Amino acid sequence: MDKLLIQGPTTLSGDVEISGAKNAALPILMCSLLSSDVLELSNLPDLHDIKTTKKLLQAMGVEITDGKNTVLLRAKSITSYEAPYEMVKTMRASILVLGPLLSRFGEARVSMPGGCAIGSRPVDIHIKGLEAMGALIKISHGYIDASCAHLPGKRLQGAKIFMDQVTVTGTENLMMAAVLADGITTLDNSAREPEIVDLGMCLKKMGAKIEGLGSDRIVVEGVRNLHSANHTIMFDRIEAGTYLVAAAMTGGKVVCRNVDPTKMEAIIQKLLECGVHIESTKESITIKSDKKIKAVNITTAPYPGFPTDMQAQFMALNTVADGVGEITESIFENRFMHVQELQRMGAVIDIKHNTAIIRGEENLEGARVMATDLRASAGLVLAGLVAKGTTQIDRIYHLDRGYEDLEAKLNRLGANIKRVS
Ligand code: UD1
Repeated sequence: MDKLLIQGPTTLSGDVEISGAKNAALPILMCSLLSSDVLELSNLPDLHDIKTTKKLLQAMGVEITDGKNTVLLRAKSITSYEAPYEMVKTMRASILVLGPLLSRFGEARVSMPGGCAIGSRPVDIHIKGLEAMGALIKISHGYIDASCAHLPGKRLQGAKIFMDQVTVTGTENLMMAAVLADGITTLDNSAREPEIVDLGMCLKKMGAKIEGLGSDRIVVEGVRNLHSANHTIMFDRIEAGTYLVAAAMTGGKVVCRNVDPTKMEAIIQKLLECGVHIESTKESITIKSDKKIKAVNITTAPYPGFPTDMQAQFMALNTVADGVGEITESIFENRFMHVQELQRMGAVIDIKHNTAIIRGEENLEGARVMATDLRASAGLVLAGLVAKGTTQIDRIYHLDRGYEDLEAKLNRLGANIKRVS
């Protein structure tokens, strides 16, 4: 198993090209299932989760032609309507085949996602929404079996759906289910994440009729067929945020390119509160930091609130900031796994319920630590960049799921990171 060896402390400076967003690419790859025509995608990040998704789609019969950060997908004839346990257990987002398969073929079988490191993460809202559209859903032997065989033309029926909680993949699944349904579907209390807007834009290019993207009410008028389309995946705002926090902590000047700063307001505002200097253009964000950063208080919330996927990185930042910062995690119940690892590096953190109270220390010390989930691992890398000595991070397959070329990009900015087997 690979590990990272990080030699600290370092100062970062230079330009970094931000990749396409994992969380936009995953649902957009799945929407290839909605048409028999070709879907051409570019700015696809080279990540483990993307490979897993392609494998899953191929196993269902989707023809895939890969290029450099591009892919052509064609779901002309599907041979299987199943997302098996082996796939879903490595990538929960496999649940996103449920909506498209049911919408186009009236049938789907998906392994029930289990618990994961950051909490129980149920899919009841996905299921309730599909049932409201008329699907018959049975859960047995760890699988969700969904069928529209009893519905006219085997088609889902448009419905008014209120989602009890704001859910990103829930909104995406139901939006994809609604595009080929019979009639109009209203999704109330929808998530507003930019990645959902990106998915919606791609579906519209394929001929879907969708209104209200980016708001908490999405209205979809079902159509009979979708057609071929080209789409460029949006930038990864979490990847960009991670490099900005790295620069804030290490000091230096870093330019993130290929980004849209308007989609990163919550992150940029928190960085400004830390006392760094930020300048934005339409496509870049430049951060200058003298390393003297102030601790910040954060409460995670659905977009446009502060993203839970940036919580671990700001936790790392607070460990070396001036003062005491409080971070409250309101989305996932168990997303503080990085705390124990940061403590091994000398961080001073207390946890009370879902709030972490962090007292900034002048120095962290390199130590052997373990990555527990994708974003927690990113927090540990950031801590390693400022810690004195060597930090060894084990189980970095988590990082490979979500950060393209992480160590190469950081090394180009002046970090000293080695990957060893
Ligand atoms: C997505 C992102 C993930 C991010 C998260 C929150 C992808 C592939 N993953 O995950 O990176 O951290 O949004 O921004 O886009 N919930 C239910 N029932 C449901 C669905 C969700 O109770 O049926 C709860 C969850 O347990 C959680 C909250 O709703 O407490 C939000 O979860 P959700 O937005 O669904 O997260 P994901 O879509 O899995």
